[in-house]
Amino acid sequence: MEKAKIMELIGQMSLEDKAKFCSGKDFWRLYSKPELGIPEVMVSDGPHGLRTQAGDQDNLGINDSIKAVCFPAGCAAASSFDRELLCRVGQTLGQEAQAVGVSVVLGPAMNIKRSPLCGRNFEYLSEDPLLAGELAAAEITGIQSQHVGTSPKHFAVNSQEYHRMTSSSNVDERAYREIYLANFETAVKKGHPWTIMNSYNRINGTFACESKDLLTDILRDDWGFDGYVMTDWGAMDEKVWALQAGCDLEMPGPGGQTQKIIDAVKDGTLDEKVLDQAVYRILDVIFRYAEHKVDAAFEYEKDHDLAAEAAENCCVLLKNEDGILPLAKNAKAAFIGQYAEKPRFQGGGSSHINCFRTESALEAASSVVPEAEISYARGFDDSKDEINEALIEEAVEIAKKADYAVIFAGLPDSYESEGYDRKHLRMPEGQNVLIERVAAANPNTIVVLHNGSAIEMPWIGKVKAVLEAYLGGQAVGRAEARILFGLANPSGRLAETFPFHLEDTPCYLTFGGENEEVSFSEGVFVGYRYYSSKNMPVLFPFGYGLSYTKFAYGNLRLSDGSFSESGELTVSVDVTNIGSVPGKEVVQLYIAPPEREPNGIFRPVRELRAFDKIPLNPGESRTVTFSLNARAFAYWNTQLHDWFVESGDYTVEICQDAATVLLSEKVAVSGEKALPYTYTLNTPLGKLMSDPRGQAILSQMQNVFGGGNSDSASEAISDEMTMAMMEGLPLRSLLGFSKDISMASLVELVASLNS
Ligand code: BGC
Repeated sequence: MEKAKIMELIGQMSLEDKAKFCSGKDFWRLYSKPELGIPEVMVSDGPHGLRTQAGDQDNLGINDSIKAVCFPAGCAAASSFDRELLCRVGQTLGQEAQAVGVSVVLGPAMNIKRSPLCGRNFEYLSEDPLLAGELAAAEITGIQSQHVGTSPKHFAVNSQEYHRMTSSSNVDERAYREIYLANFETAVKKGHPWTIMNSYNRINGTFACESKDLLTDILRDDWGFDGYVMTDWGAMDEKVWALQAGCDLEMPGPGGQTQKIIDAVKDGTLDEKVLDQAVYRILDVIFRYAEHKVDAAFEYEKDHDLAAEAAENCCVLLKNEDGILPLAKNAKAAFIGQYAEKPRFQGGGSSHINCFRTESALEAASSVVPEAEISYARGFDDSKDEINEALIEEAVEIAKKADYAVIFAGLPDSYESEGYDRKHLRMPEGQNVLIERVAAANPNTIVVLHNGSAIEMPWIGKVKAVLEAYLGGQAVGRAEARILFGLANPSGRLAETFPFHLEDTPCYLTFGGENEEVSFSEGVFVGYRYYSSKNMPVLFPFGYGLSYTKFAYGNLRLSDGSFSESGELTVSVDVTNIGSVPGKEVVQLYIAPPEREPNGIFRPVRELRAFDKIPLNPGESRTVTFSLNARAFAYWNTQLHDWFVESGDYTVEICQDAATVLLSEKVAVSGEKALPYTYTLNTPLGKLMSDPRGQAILSQMQNVFGGGNSDSASEAISDEMTMAMMEGLPLRSLLGFSKDISMASLVELVASLNS
């Protein structure tokens, strides 16, 4: 509806009505006003399926919701590295939302995986903001193509569950922009979500719902967001402040602070225009949906098939010794572990879907490979954290009789969920023991994993293959069966690092915080940015994943050997499938910064700046082309409060994963902005030496630096040593070197350098 018409409607609303519209009518519905033609709409979780409640309502996944389809959760979806797939899943979610009358799907959930301990990592996409942002934008585009809104969440810096409603994420400006906001920035600029959900937590002391900096200056003014901001469920603090900051809708409703809004307008504390603006944003989105509402059907079976196809593209093959996988279609295999029969395919909390159907690997195998000889033993009971000798014994027995033992293991629901964090990265001991014992009984042991985030694998050296299926949605079993028996080729790549140990993680010492304050002291060194900068061995790096085929890379070329800030650099590389089966490759482009200048900015050794996923038949070759702009080389400069391109020689790297460079080329980058610098008497001499004007002045003072050293003195200390020592001395220390230098002359020097 046109803006003028909406404003006309607002003009006909009373102050009380307008104040009321700024919160939900109940758990999922917004207020309506039929007399003015404003219809009632509802919102619904999200993010990887619909949790639409018809009966008792809650935000923790406790009460029932309508039957729906569960697609791969964020952890799995991101491993696809596949924008097109995420967009298709989004379109389907949009159609489902139309079918059940949902105006906004609450997702994607896209917070940065700061630590594998975050209880909600299973819903989130990645430790890398580019990957998270691109995939979120694809899903948003898909959903909104059906005239249903989205609500990327939880905005922002909500990377732990512990005390999520009260803790303060204390993050420096650079990490804020480069890591914790960059994902949302891409999602907003490329996906144009209709709404956004602010997080519960405080950011540097201010509740997200009350941060004008976040919700107005950055989100709307910088990024151009034009929808409404809603709170997470129960994330409202002071409603009048929140409205002033740019938070429009309190959820759920009815809010208890409506009277406060009315009073604030009456006593002049709140400008009525601010209220009108919030109501405008809410009505605008209501009409975006209502004017395009269609009678769609919920196509359960069709959507289940898409869930299976999606899961297939998400599984990550982590190990495949001796090419043990894929198995022959008539293989004699023992399926072991409860998750073969009852897969764990989704997490707990607000994203929990009431699936109309699930498909296990055991069930799927009977139709995918009817000729295979499959036996089954439960192996463990995931509701009990115990070592169950009887179940293990039974599993070992069937493993001995089979040619292959395939163990379906992972994390139980109780180990990871919304609302609390994990305490360690271990699998239940009962499952670890099961894997060790089965592997000792059958040398051809394969592990299929169902977990929402990184785990430790103490048994990794004892099994032949590992397939990471994550929480792959209700049809994950079909995907597993097809991959295990070679009807599909795994093409997922890790969207997060798997460290060896929890103690290796960058925020190990500060995760969770103390006294409600969480110091993000690792700064921008999150995930692989930390491990690769430290050249630290990990269990599996970000971007890692194997295939049943092999890909060869060659002919990396840049459109130019130099790049200036306002230009564009085109990078091409040829990729060939040199194996014997069709496969999909994820081509990853990283940028490595110039060598760090003394006292310069610390930067990760490489950062993902572009990626693509391409299908290739055996023998087929394709040229993949990426186009880079200034952002690929920039960091957030805290003096300029803006992106800044430092001049220097950068390296364009085509990588297998964040730890393995395949091809690289240098590019000379020239930045166009200068950084302001104010000289003082405390400016280090090194700074002066790097400034041509300073060099000229210093050369006139040559004798000050020992230019007239005697021979014996210069044997003890070389000119370079002198310079290295002088580098850090403040300008004022020149006073002590020569009687010819006075304080007045230094003050004059500083003034002239600053002029
Ligand atoms: C979650 C949100 C969810 C909302 C509604 C909250 O607990 O953090 O992600 O959308 O509940 O269920």
